[in-house]
Amino acid sequence: MADGKTRAAKAALEFVKDGMGVGLGSGSTAAEFIRLLGARAKARKWKLACVPTSEDSRVLALKAGLSTCALDEVKSLGLAVDGADAVDPNLNLVKGGGGCHAREKVVAYAAKKFVCIVDESKLRKSLDGFPVPVEVLPFAGAHVARAIERDWDAKAEFRRGGGKLGPVVTDNGNYILDATFRRVGDPRELERDLQCLPGVVASGIFAARRPILIIGRKDKAEMRA
Ligand code: A5P
Repeated sequence: MADGKTRAAKAALEFVKDGMGVGLGSGSTAAEFIRLLGARAKARKWKLACVPTSEDSRVLALKAGLSTCALDEVKSLGLAVDGADAVDPNLNLVKGGGGCHAREKVVAYAAKKFVCIVDESKLRKSLDGFPVPVEVLPFAGAHVARAIERDWDAKAEFRRGGGKLGPVVTDNGNYILDATFRRVGDPRELERDLQCLPGVVASGIFAARRPILIIGRKDKAEMRA
C-alpha cells in the first residue's frame, strides 16, 4: 500500500512533460519521485534533462535510468520537485535535514514551477523552534554561529555526522549550522537577513519562492498553491 510520501510523489508526476528540464530534490520523498519518474520516462519514451541537487539524488537518478546534467547545461528548468522538513500554513518551508538545501534552493528558485511533496507529518502551525539548517563556509562557521546567537533569540550548533568524527561536510565542501530560533517571525525576513550574513551560503528557510504543495494523505493527495 502506498504511503503519504509515495502518494505525493506520484501526484507530482503530472507536472512533468516530455523534453523538460527537471530539478530533482533530495531526501526520501524526492527519492520516491525519482524512482517513479524513471519508470514513467521509460514507459513513455520521454527525453528529460534532470538536474540533481545532491550526489545522492544523482546516483538514484542514474539507477532509475534518467539522464542527469549540471544546472548550467540546461537552458531552462520547467520544474523542480523536492521534499521538505517542515511546512507552515503559508507554505513557507524549512529544508536541509539531509544537508542539501543550498543546491535545492538554487534549483527550486530557478525553476518555472516548484512542486514540494510531503506527507502529513511535515505540516506545522509555525516554524518557531524548528531547527533551520544554515550552510556556511568553513572559514566563517564559528563567526556566523556567534552572529546568529547574538542577533536573534537563537541557538546555533555545528551539525556533526555519523561514521566520521567532526562536522558534516556538504556536497559543496561546506559546514552546516542547525539554528533554532525561538520565534521565526516573518520567514521571508529571516531568510533575507540570514542570507546577508557574510559566510552564509544558504539557509534552509524557503519563503521567497512559494511552492505548489502536494500533501500525501492516508487516502489521497491534496494540492495547495
Ligand atoms: C534535504 O537536504 C532536505 O531538504 C530534504 O528535502 C528534506 O529533508 C526532506 O526529506 P525527506 O523527504 O526524507 O523527509
